[in-house]
Amino acid sequence: MSGGVSLGGRLRPVVANWKMHGDRGSLAVWARALEERLAASPPGPVVACPPHPYLLVFSGIRRFDLGAQDVSDEDDGAYTGSVSARMLRDCGCRYVIVGHSERRCYQGEGDRLVARKVRKALAEGLRPILCLGESALERDSGRTEEVLLRSLDAVLEALGPPGEEVPDLLLAYEPLWAIGTGRAAEPSEVAQVHALLRRRLAVHDARMSARTPILYGGSVRAPQAARLRLLEDVDGLLVGGASRDIDEFHAICRVWHDQDRPSD
Ligand code: PGA
Repeated sequence: MSGGVSLGGRLRPVVANWKMHGDRGSLAVWARALEERLAASPPGPVVACPPHPYLLVFSGIRRFDLGAQDVSDEDDGAYTGSVSARMLRDCGCRYVIVGHSERRCYQGEGDRLVARKVRKALAEGLRPILCLGESALERDSGRTEEVLLRSLDAVLEALGPPGEEVPDLLLAYEPLWAIGTGRAAEPSEVAQVHALLRRRLAVHDARMSARTPILYGGSVRAPQAARLRLLEDVDGLLVGGASRDIDEFHAICRVWHDQDRPSD
């Protein structure tokens, strides 16, 4: 395994989700600091997802990629407040987070809308990071598998039968009870869910199962990253709160991408 790709050749990204935080100044300072630090780090994909108005603050970045936190399911037109996949591409995005639980919960986004957003992002050449997760209640009532597979199946169905090209999709398992709570899921729990998602992908398309990176998100800090990186099926991390602290975020990136360096 190398820092940037897994044994199976899957990408191993660390993604910073700033959510609705920051301003032009603080994001510019953070972007510069990250550029400098990544220059001296083991190489591996890193993605920053700032709020939409600040995407252009990141133009000129070299050492990491740009992502957005949401995208419209429409191409263009009279959709006040919405931002299309084409606009995101135009601003330099390569990735977009889709179906984050904060959008599902606060904006009422359901599986079908999320599936349409994934299709739209893919059609514009963006890599969607599809978030899936169960609430504490769903988990405690033994419904984790049902909830996750329902959300994943909605997207697989919308993508249609496997074609020649494998969709450039990423999954992120983000249990709601771990987001912003300081209580990350245990590696054994993460391993179980990631294996479940990979098996489901395999039923749809074996190539997709082999190639789709599955990220974990929810209260990730450097110590959790160090434990999770030992798991075969965890390809990357989606980092919320800790991503805004450049020291912590860089520490996470280093841990994640430092995997096969010989210990000296
Ligand atoms: P957190 O958020 O790292 O603050 O828990 C993760 C996310 O919501 O993507």
